[in-house]
Amino acid sequence: MDKTKLTQEADKFIVSLYKELGKTKAQTDARREKVKHDIEMHGYYEHTFEEISYGAKIAWRNSNHCIGRLFWDKLEVIDARHIETSDEVFKYLFQHIRIATNNGKIKPLITIFKPKIRGIRKIKIWNHQLLRYAGYETDHGVVGDPDSVNFTKFCMELGWKGEGTSFDILPLVVQIDDDTPEYREIPKNLIYEVRIQHDEYDIFGNKEVKWYAVPIISDMRLEIGGLDYIAAPFNGWYMGTEIGARNLADESRYNLLPTIAKQLDLNTSHNRSLWKDQALVALNQAVLDSYKKHGVTLVDHHTASQQFQLFETKETKAGREVTGKWSWLIPPVSPATTHMFFKPYDNTILTPNYFYQKEDYPLKDSSRK
Ligand code: ARG
Repeated sequence: MDKTKLTQEADKFIVSLYKELGKTKAQTDARREKVKHDIEMHGYYEHTFEEISYGAKIAWRNSNHCIGRLFWDKLEVIDARHIETSDEVFKYLFQHIRIATNNGKIKPLITIFKPKIRGIRKIKIWNHQLLRYAGYETDHGVVGDPDSVNFTKFCMELGWKGEGTSFDILPLVVQIDDDTPEYREIPKNLIYEVRIQHDEYDIFGNKEVKWYAVPIISDMRLEIGGLDYIAAPFNGWYMGTEIGARNLADESRYNLLPTIAKQLDLNTSHNRSLWKDQALVALNQAVLDSYKKHGVTLVDHHTASQQFQLFETKETKAGREVTGKWSWLIPPVSPATTHMFFKPYDNTILTPNYFYQKEDYPLKDSSRK
């Protein structure tokens, strides 16, 4: 971003944030002058803690894909902008996992490392999420999570070796400047996982199925006032369907519906038996029930949609328009049981916000999925 654009973005952010925070005109003007001056002199500016902290929250509030936004102002923010070395980065990432997990009572949390400064990045986290399962290509198809195949190869090229199970937690991979990326195994005692079991039926047969407690997205760019925080892992808690209707169910992921149908003795010879639907319901019940039993925070999609409706009401009261992406807001099971199904959403992208960044693992072999 050039200086002129950065100045504009920074100014727009300060004006709107300081208004929302109820600051005086004098305070706002002083800050605007300082920011403008810093950009002029150094080519960048630094946020105060209040600015990054609110910026990160507002970025969540502006996340059109997210149904969980009622809790946007409960996000806890850890300022890690002073961190320089990979050892320290790993330490902060482990700490993030521990604090966010909170013995199962999941806390929405973001850890913010240095932004890009004059276009240069210092810290890069290569993981998509801090906790995720490896995926290994074998002669009999993928073992583990097919979504992780490329990243798993990348980890192995760096020297990591997995156990080869369906649920191997991947290491964290961090890069400083243009150094070789480094990997570090996550201490086992930090990793909470939930064994998925149905209360009434044995839905997986001899397969042991589990999922991790906290989804900590670590590859998105947080943009606040024209600054790019390219390393800023954040989490909320899971909605059941993310696991039960996608991660464990998608044909291109763990693809468990055929196993469940077999276990439940469903008629898979034709679509109209609705065996997939029945298997999906059983799987989603199992996810909800298992997280509950293990004392790990997780929300069902009906409750989440009611919470989202409350968010919409609150935003309207605050004089803000709610933006959203309909195809993401509706849950993947029983979408028409939620109010979102029946109304249009405006997918305008506001900033601050979280944006995708290109995944470009520097794999030696160029095979990509
Ligand atoms: N859908 C992703 C997954 O299943 C996680 C995305 C973030 N989800 C959340 N509840 N904060 O791993």
